[in-house]
Amino acid sequence: MLFSMYAMSAALLLWLLLAAVSGVPGEEVDKRPNFVLMMVDDLGIGDIGCYGNDTIRTPNIDRLASEGVKLTQHIAAAPLCTPSRTAFVTGRYAIRSGMVSEGRVQVLLFLGGSGGLPPGETTFAKRLQQQGYTTGLVGKWHLGVNCERRGDHCHHPNQHGFSYFYGLPFTLFNDCLPGENSDVLADLQHTLKDLSMLLAVGLITVLCVRVCGLFEVSLWLLVPLFLLCILATAVWYVPFVLLQTWNCILMRNQDVIEQPMELDTLSERLLREAQHFVKKNADHPFLLFLSLAHVHTPLFNTPDFAGKSRHGRYGDNLEEMDWIIGKMTETVDSLGLANNTLMYFTSDHGGHLESADSVVGQKGGWNGIYKGGKAMGGWEGGIRVPGIFRWTGRLAAGRVVDEPTSLMDLYPTLKYLAKDTQPDRQLDGYNLMPLLEGEVVRSEHEFMFHYCGIYLNAVRWHPPGSDSIFKVHFFTPNFSPPGAGGCYDTKVCLCHGEHVTNHNPPLVYDIFNDPSESRPLTLDTEQRYAEILEQTAKAVEKHQSTLTDEELSDNTAQHGVPGQMTWDKILWRPWLQPCCGSFPFCRCKENMTQV
Ligand SMILES: *[C@@H]1O[C@H](CO)[C@@H](O)[C@H](O)[C@H]1NC(C)=O
Ligand SMILES: *[C@@H]1O[C@H](CO)[C@@H](O)[C@H](O)[C@H]1NC(C)=O
Ligand SMILES: *[C@@H]1O[C@H](CO)[C@@H](O)[C@H](O)[C@H]1NC(C)=O
Repeated sequence: MLFSMYAMSAALLLWLLLAAVSGVPGEEVDKRPNFVLMMVDDLGIGDIGCYGNDTIRTPNIDRLASEGVKLTQHIAAAPLCTPSRTAFVTGRYAIRSGMVSEGRVQVLLFLGGSGGLPPGETTFAKRLQQQGYTTGLVGKWHLGVNCERRGDHCHHPNQHGFSYFYGLPFTLFNDCLPGENSDVLADLQHTLKDLSMLLAVGLITVLCVRVCGLFEVSLWLLVPLFLLCILATAVWYVPFVLLQTWNCILMRNQDVIEQPMELDTLSERLLREAQHFVKKNADHPFLLFLSLAHVHTPLFNTPDFAGKSRHGRYGDNLEEMDWIIGKMTETVDSLGLANNTLMYFTSDHGGHLESADSVVGQKGGWNGIYKGGKAMGGWEGGIRVPGIFRWTGRLAAGRVVDEPTSLMDLYPTLKYLAKDTQPDRQLDGYNLMPLLEGEVVRSEHEFMFHYCGIYLNAVRWHPPGSDSIFKVHFFTPNFSPPGAGGCYDTKVCLCHGEHVTNHNPPLVYDIFNDPSESRPLTLDTEQRYAEILEQTAKAVEKHQSTLTDEELSDNTAQHGVPGQMTWDKILWRPWLQPCCGSFPFCRCKENMTQV
């Protein structure tokens, strides 16, 4: 009896002691940080105050940089949304998951296509989910939805580790706002439209001839002509004219909640959802990926920002985006989470130079001193983006890192901080914490490979012990008109065939001394010239040898991985189309009173 009383009080004492040490009775506080990752669409590095812009107001982004670490050589793994985002969430070049294209279509074009991030891929969200994190994606996905039938959701964010999804399974694009030009295969649309017209005119002529009795026209000619006319119209009209209905939708998890989506309230709804997610999960490790629809065309604005900037509709949209970043920072800070939350700000690739017209003026981002832009895999303007990390109390305020870093580094960095030590696949990123904390001064990225579609466009080499950043271009896009600095005739540059000029020997620049890539190095001007070609060739060989032994092996396609961007996977299929209500009359509006 006495013994058991002793035992009980000893146990009580021990319990009290433990509780006092850990702060919370009975359980240990989970000290792993939260993550708030904010990605802007098509933002240029030259658009931001703390990256040198003096006419755009981005006080909230600038504040994040002054309270954290700013990366000046932060590189996207691809110059377009779908492959860049693939590499971002998987920590590997998009070629490893087949999310690259041989031809002109390099992003997913229809939600009713079957291509997308393969179900067997692993994302940082999936890894963190396995570590007990609550994971959410608010905003744009653009990595596919269905494989074989509507609702199988094999590529959906919920399937890829995000336990909560609210947002755009596709992307914002011009077709979401009636009256803007179409972004999807405009020339094909015109050809199909002309063909339908031609057939219709032919049909009417033949009908007239028959009705007027000018000639005897057999019914056998009329019937096929009529059917052909219907078919051509359907093939043109159904997928293309209804693009807004098919692609501009909002989902909450597995449900389509708005179709087509209302743009006027989109910003506030994305912000509200992101804030709500943070508040709801404040006492448990969480990952929020806020993937903004800004600053992609058609540049919608809420009235508070319209006409306020010095750079037209583009500037207004950008300043609204900055305001959203400020609201997110405020939310994290007001909940007392700043010391335990790693906040990250970036863009998926460079600004779209060719996006401009005589009415609105500039509609795409500004890449500062860097050459080229969106869709150009080799030129710096297509891939160098802002990169800011803030974690008060852990990362030194105001530090600047000039070393090469990649968006693919997020995956291993998040894993490291979430204490995930399980084995993984071949990754192309590195844990950034030693560099961010100033424990090391050199980046682990001695080489970086710059893809344009499936093609290796350029290689970056940061030789040990040197400041130089050599970039070796195997091909460059053909600008149109020549010398224009962009591909204005086609609206985006392409990576294949007659759209590029191959260089043998390759074009070499030192972007440490010549960041605008304007003075190619030669044997005479650069003493390391031969070494640069030799070292990069070796690195390419080594890199390519890692592309074959993938776990997703299927020998029907490139590098053993089934290609996700082939025409048959890209084109619209009615039976894959996400839809609310009954197909094909998909139409619904979010019930705002529910939230
Ligand atoms: C600032 O950004 C605007 C909008 O993209 C751009 O037009 C302008 O040239 C930029 N200014 C500087 C100094 O980079
Ligand atoms: C955050 O960390 C800093 C520096 O370690 C400290 O001064 C501050 O009090 C902390 N804030 C909170 C809310 O814990
Ligand atoms: C919206 O949601 C509220 C609350 O759940 C419900 O009472 C209302 O009937 C819904 N409205 C519509 C139009 O579905």
